[in-house]
Amino acid sequence: MTTAFCEYRPGLEGIPVTKSSISYVNGEEGILEYRGIRIEELAAKSSFLEIVYLLIWNTLPSEIQLKEFENDILYHRRIKYHIRDMMKCFPGTGHPMDALQTSAAALGLFYSRRALDDPEYIRKAVVRLLAKIPTMIAAFHQMRKGNDPIQPNDDLHYAANFLYMLTERKPHPIAARVFDVSLMLHAEHTVNASTFSAMVTASTLTDPYGVVASAVGTLAGPLHGGANEEVLSMLEEIGSIRNVRPYVEERIARKEKIMGFGHRVYKVKDPRAVILQNLAEQLFQETGNDPYYDIALELEKVVEDKLGAKGIYPNVDFYSGLVYKKLGIPSDLFTPIFTIARAAGWLAHWKEQLATNRIFRPTQVYTGKHDQPYIPIEERT
Ligand code: CMC
Repeated sequence: MTTAFCEYRPGLEGIPVTKSSISYVNGEEGILEYRGIRIEELAAKSSFLEIVYLLIWNTLPSEIQLKEFENDILYHRRIKYHIRDMMKCFPGTGHPMDALQTSAAALGLFYSRRALDDPEYIRKAVVRLLAKIPTMIAAFHQMRKGNDPIQPNDDLHYAANFLYMLTERKPHPIAARVFDVSLMLHAEHTVNASTFSAMVTASTLTDPYGVVASAVGTLAGPLHGGANEEVLSMLEEIGSIRNVRPYVEERIARKEKIMGFGHRVYKVKDPRAVILQNLAEQLFQETGNDPYYDIALELEKVVEDKLGAKGIYPNVDFYSGLVYKKLGIPSDLFTPIFTIARAAGWLAHWKEQLATNRIFRPTQVYTGKHDQPYIPIEERT
């Protein structure tokens, strides 16, 4: 099917929608870079907040710049009591992604001035969103259990503080580091569905809270951010190593997807899955093995055997669920956690979009009829 100008590609596969210098993926060789730096190097040497700075301001911060940025985030971590009271009215049975989308949009009620050409406005919006998203997720989690939200702990850095607000316990340093690295791995990934959603919304010059809220809604689906939650349910359903092969064969026969595998871009094992698997192993060594890990290893082997020829390998979501489970995080918070990380990428694209903005207005291939008569209601069958 073609329009006057180009071929219609379902899912826009392979069609560039922007020019960007934020991240780079080579799906054939399994390469991911943020601002030109390999993800393996960043995961070994950097921290999540440093990566946020790098993605958004296109440079690694000096020691002073990083300290200032970390302090700014620390200062803005608390949420207004209006937001907390609003969240109290949410049904505790609702999905935390819906609570987060609503709360992220509600921030715009308080900070809605749209000075999109003011670097200070942009900086404040980045700081507020990055600082408050973890607090809002943890607050919803506590309130749905009937507890008061746990206030951020000023002695703890970003990742450790989030785990603290969930559990009211200071996390083991390895747990905090593993979580921080996981945030780094999920921070940015070129133009995926939620980032595209953020860019489309940004292109209307709306405020950044609306941009992030729209991306949160897109990330929530099981084909995108929701996959790691489904990976864990799948491992539970498989239950033991001997059930792995029949499970895979049955799903393939029914033409159903196996969660945590496959990627639009990677045709080899996702480099983030390689790093996460190593982290999972370190965590299990320190804190005890997870029985589902052995099932996951067997699953990876069987899927490679059956689908490797099609380029179907583990993606980032395959091991992240196991890591989060070991950190004591409930599975319906996995996608909200993805949001904490990916907000960095969305905001980097928002800022990049503003610099050369043109409103998105694609076209369509019309497949309907023309010149149809209007039938009066009493004559309709
Ligand atoms: N299990 C079994 N077969 C698969 C899978 C899978 N997970 N993924 C792709 N395939 C097969 C698919 O059936 C198709 O086969 P055929 O050509 O014979 O019809 C072929 O591979 C191409 O699949 P596709 O659905 O056209 O590929 P896509 O690029 O549109 O989809 C994907 C990419 C990630 C949506 C898909 O692989 C999928 O649904 N995976 C499971 C969900 C998942 O793990 N999502 C997380 C993605 S990574 C994090 C993120 O981006 O949020």
